[in-house]
Amino acid sequence: MADLEGLAEARDVKTKKVEGGAHFHLRGSAHLDWGMKNRLARIIKPDTGRTVMLAVDHGYFQGPTSGLEVMESTLEPLIPYADCLMLTRGILRSSVPPGAQVPIVLRVSGGNSVLSELSNETWNVSVEDCIRLNVSGMAMSIYVGAPYEHQTLAAFSDLIDAGYEAGIPVLAVTAIGRDMVRDSRYLSLATRMAAEMGANFVKTYYCENFERVTGTCPVPIVMAGGKKLPEIEALTMAHNAVTEGATGVDMGRNIFQSDCPIGMIKAVRAVVHYDEKPQSAIKIYRDEKTASKRGATTAKKPSPSTKKK
Ligand code: R5P
Repeated sequence: MADLEGLAEARDVKTKKVEGGAHFHLRGSAHLDWGMKNRLARIIKPDTGRTVMLAVDHGYFQGPTSGLEVMESTLEPLIPYADCLMLTRGILRSSVPPGAQVPIVLRVSGGNSVLSELSNETWNVSVEDCIRLNVSGMAMSIYVGAPYEHQTLAAFSDLIDAGYEAGIPVLAVTAIGRDMVRDSRYLSLATRMAAEMGANFVKTYYCENFERVTGTCPVPIVMAGGKKLPEIEALTMAHNAVTEGATGVDMGRNIFQSDCPIGMIKAVRAVVHYDEKPQSAIKIYRDEKTASKRGATTAKKPSPSTKKK
């Protein structure tokens, strides 16, 4: 109950010295509401302005993907090193411990498969379920230039409205139909369209002249990893992406299909959060691989607050 005893009057405050707190670390996000910003800040770390998202949603259209056969086994060792997990609600409920302190970006689109037309995808998870699952973001693919372009863009617009209503940011994934070329012309078209339609951040592939893509998109871009590459090439791609304006990565196969997934995610973290060069980050992967063969692991997850200048 309210207590009048011991009531102390507020002290005078020099208003000039009070910080407004208006600054927000993400491009194009300064005018969002508090809940949106708070969720975005869980996904993209304020200390470095970057993120290492772990994408493990591949099963939604291709079933048991190599490296993701038993989700608990893949996820358990990687969760401590991921800034965020991107996955489906089926895997979240079945395979992620509710006590895990990792933000979730939930894939809320599907309805297609590798056996049919890939772009025939739509919004398939309600915002109410996203709220029940306490997600920090919702992800949907858009297929610009593909047979079901309009269907995916119309569903995306509805999701944006629902996201603003609930205060949950939306990640647009620029999915590429079979006939599309992954060049800066196409990717800047798709990412800019996503942002114009209201996406709060956008996931896209790395390409030559990537600065054209990041430079013309008014909201943060995270780089998708794509097919499995040799580790040094994947680290180089991540390094180039953040150097050329990406806010981080949302990588899957290049981490969970590596012969040392923990070493790889640690190396990716060093590149993304600490601007480590690929040639030195690869040592983190190699050291971890050597240590894991001996049944040990190396360094702990670094703290973003110690970002190298
Ligand atoms: C694909 O549609 C999924 O959204 C994946 O999350 C995406 O492709 C990123 O994973 P990867 O790095 O394996 O390409």
